[in-house]
Amino acid sequence: MSDTEQVLVLVKPDGVRRGLVGQVIARAEARGFAIQRLELRQATPQLLAQHYAEHAAKPFYPSLVEYMTSGPVVALVLEGAQVIVSFRAMAGATDPVKAAPGTIRGDFGRDWGTGEIQNIVHASDSPQSAAREIAIWFPAG
Ligand code: RTP
Ligand code: MG
Repeated sequence: MSDTEQVLVLVKPDGVRRGLVGQVIARAEARGFAIQRLELRQATPQLLAQHYAEHAAKPFYPSLVEYMTSGPVVALVLEGAQVIVSFRAMAGATDPVKAAPGTIRGDFGRDWGTGEIQNIVHASDSPQSAAREIAIWFPAG
């Protein structure tokens, strides 16, 4: 279908560590989105420099890389019409303190007192970001 699109989702290291991978996947499946790719990966600073290129100069970038390399992540490609907007809505606000209950970040995250935002999942924010990020995480297509 012409309006089918894909999104890159990452279950971040805190989500993997806390055993929440299944709950994130269950929500995507319950919403009716199809899993196209699924892999446990250890992110490297080099890979994250590509993935988070837009944030490279920001003050939180070093702690973001430290957090994102603190353990394995689960990378997923989900597919379906409007999956980008839909999954971003399911993820909730970036800061889990502000994320609404019922969203992934609002249900599974909080301020852990570390001074950094740990929010369980990443999701591409536009079709352009999704294409760029899928090529970074799954270069073989
Ligand atoms: P993501 O890219 O991970 O899906 O998150 P997002 O679009 O909701 O937020 P974005 O602005 O792209 O930020 C990427 C990640 O960087 C961390 N962050 N920390 N300390 C801070 O102010 C701050 N701002 C962002 C978070 O881990 C966020 O998910
Ligand atoms: Mg983002």
